[in-house]
Amino acid sequence: MPATAVLGAQWGDEGKGRVTDYFSEKADYVVRYQGGNNAGHTIIVGDQKLALSLIPSGVMYPQVIPVIASGMVVDPRVLLAEIDMLAGKGIDTSRLRISSNAHLIMPYHRKLDAVMERFLGRSQIGTTKKGIGPAYTDKFARQGIRVQDLFDPKIFREKLEVALEDKNKLLTRVYNQLPIDSGPIADEYLAYAERLLPLVTDTSLLLWEAIRDGKEVIFEGAQGTLLDIDHGTYPFVTSSSPTAGGVLTGVGIGPKDLHRVVGIAKAYISRVGTGPFPTELSDEIGDRMVDIGGEYGTVTGRRRRCGWLDLVALRYAVRVNGLTDLFLTKLDVLSHFEAIKVAVGYTSLGERYDEFPRQQRVLYNCTPVYEEFPGWNTDITGARSSDDLPPEARTYIEFIEDTIGVPIRWVSVGPERTQLVERT
Ligand code: GDP
Ligand code: IMO
Ligand code: MG
Repeated sequence: MPATAVLGAQWGDEGKGRVTDYFSEKADYVVRYQGGNNAGHTIIVGDQKLALSLIPSGVMYPQVIPVIASGMVVDPRVLLAEIDMLAGKGIDTSRLRISSNAHLIMPYHRKLDAVMERFLGRSQIGTTKKGIGPAYTDKFARQGIRVQDLFDPKIFREKLEVALEDKNKLLTRVYNQLPIDSGPIADEYLAYAERLLPLVTDTSLLLWEAIRDGKEVIFEGAQGTLLDIDHGTYPFVTSSSPTAGGVLTGVGIGPKDLHRVVGIAKAYISRVGTGPFPTELSDEIGDRMVDIGGEYGTVTGRRRRCGWLDLVALRYAVRVNGLTDLFLTKLDVLSHFEAIKVAVGYTSLGERYDEFPRQQRVLYNCTPVYEEFPGWNTDITGARSSDDLPPEARTYIEFIEDTIGVPIRWVSVGPERTQLVERT
């Protein structure tokens, strides 16, 4: 399969880093198509742990060309720090390619992200404060500054002046902050240009040619379906399109060029930040999921909210992404529970819902309708084939598969690269 998307089917942190790493072994290109350094993707190989925020998770494989495509927002300071971090671990990043059309996250985007959240008080979204929302806002307002602008100092300074005129009014008059001076920002950003120049190219053309030539291309989603700007739990979402449609717009390829869409879901579910979450467990079971699953944010260190797997939401993810397969992660975490529940429907405001509700008011008031399964109470971290899994675990997997209508081809049973079962 030449072109495969691997993307989050929940609210992020499903294990996209480890899944992309798995697919990268046979890949020629691994591409991030949206988001920025709000992502935190973890890969564990032996006792080496890597947390990546901008560079695609295929970077550890020497044959892979990692690509930052046009739909991303790039904080160049963070990108260069990540390149240096990888160099420190002996990982070569000279093959990295960056779209000249990707937008830059500027210092005022970070500042605005922080003050706007503070301003929202109790209604805040709980963003990662990396400047993602304000950078995408400028992109859509056609006031963004792009990677290619770094290579034309005159244009860069002009665009920065225009942007700051607007931003400084907002910062001083609305948010009561000090104005930002353009000089130091221009000096800082233009100094990055030299290091970035050899990496910047037309990634849409690069990837079109790769697909035409039958190369293996993996598109690595960040965030997840329920955080999608159009299809997620708006306004408690991110400002980009993690869903399959985002691959096409973010990379600049057509629908015929995407051959497979693999959804990634945890065997339970988690969410960082605020917003509705029907199966959230605010009890001892939820606390145990956090402890056993190590559910703390890779980017912000925040405690993730946890709950039982939600098959209403997962069926929704199958639909809006056109998923062809599912990769189920962290099944080992459920080994520690006597009984395991999954949501198969909701009731809200006196009505039963089998489809993901489109209205926030309904979603906020949802009580899940659960099916309960017996736990297996045994360590499965050594399982490497379906036969190694206890019957209760197989029943659980098969129930999910039957309910969502797409095959679960892979199940991971631990964070390390080799801890997974490929189902046949
Ligand atoms: P991503 O943002 O989707 O890439 O996910 P994160 O890396 O933020 O969070 C997933 C966490 O779960 C990481 O700490 C992974 O090392 C870990 N992880 C991934 N797969 C498994 C698994 O099968 N079992 C366990 N116990 N941990 C896993
Ligand atoms: P990965 O790729 C989980 C959440 C934030 C917040 C909302 C908006 O590691 O799965 P933003 O900073 O994007 O404007 O924040 O989205 N969020 C994530 N949650 N995993 C992520 O990335 C996330 N990226 C953003 O917590 O609720
Ligand atoms: Mg993450």
